[in-house]
Amino acid sequence: MRLNKYIAQAGIASRRKADELIACGNVKINGEVVRELGTDVKEGDAVEVNGRRIAVSEKKVYILLNKPVGYVTTSADEKDRATVLDLVADVPERIFPVGRLDYNTSGLLILTNDGDLAYRLTHPKHHIYKTYRVQAAGVLSNERAARLRRGVDIGGFVTSPAKVKVIKQGERSVLAEIQIYEGKNRQVRKMFAAVGNKVTALKRTALGDIRLGRLMEGHYRKLTREEIEYLKSL
Ligand code: URA
Repeated sequence: MRLNKYIAQAGIASRRKADELIACGNVKINGEVVRELGTDVKEGDAVEVNGRRIAVSEKKVYILLNKPVGYVTTSADEKDRATVLDLVADVPERIFPVGRLDYNTSGLLILTNDGDLAYRLTHPKHHIYKTYRVQAAGVLSNERAARLRRGVDIGGFVTSPAKVKVIKQGERSVLAEIQIYEGKNRQVRKMFAAVGNKVTALKRTALGDIRLGRLMEGHYRKLTREEIEYLKSL
């Protein structure tokens, strides 16, 4: 964060006044006077104004992104692929994704700088249902759908009961909706593969009661106050 913004957010002075304080040599970072107006404050830096240590408690932000296919859900990718953080680059706070969507999965992803909430939402003991739209090859027979509902073995792990709805069965492919309460790696793809239907497109449409709605792919919005309260109540 820019030094003048940091001083303003700490409630010491307006940004313009902060620039004056900096230019006059009244501001130190890690014990050194800084007069450069464009200086950035990094995490862990000790900032002093007129000899007094100041601190900013960063504002908590909660973002809902409609992730497109073709982005990784990590902050740095070893293959240099685009990351979801590239899509929220104009959010000034340092936010990070809550949970993960595969490179080839699209849809609802929450990003925040609220570490407590992120921890609680991803902890396995909090069973928050996640809803996915699934396009898969073949016919999802009643028998296969029933197996998905009961739980299937996805390689050493049997999934817990899920809700499954066939939206449209075509000749060679099916559009379905599934709600799961866990978040194992590639779980939905593995579940459909386990009953013989290869997933060809996957989109998360809701996390608990929070819905993606009409948000366009690659776009994001702030969560509403009600949505934030809801997530905290889970
Ligand atoms: N299940 C998957 O298979 N992939 C995802 O990205 C999320 C759930």
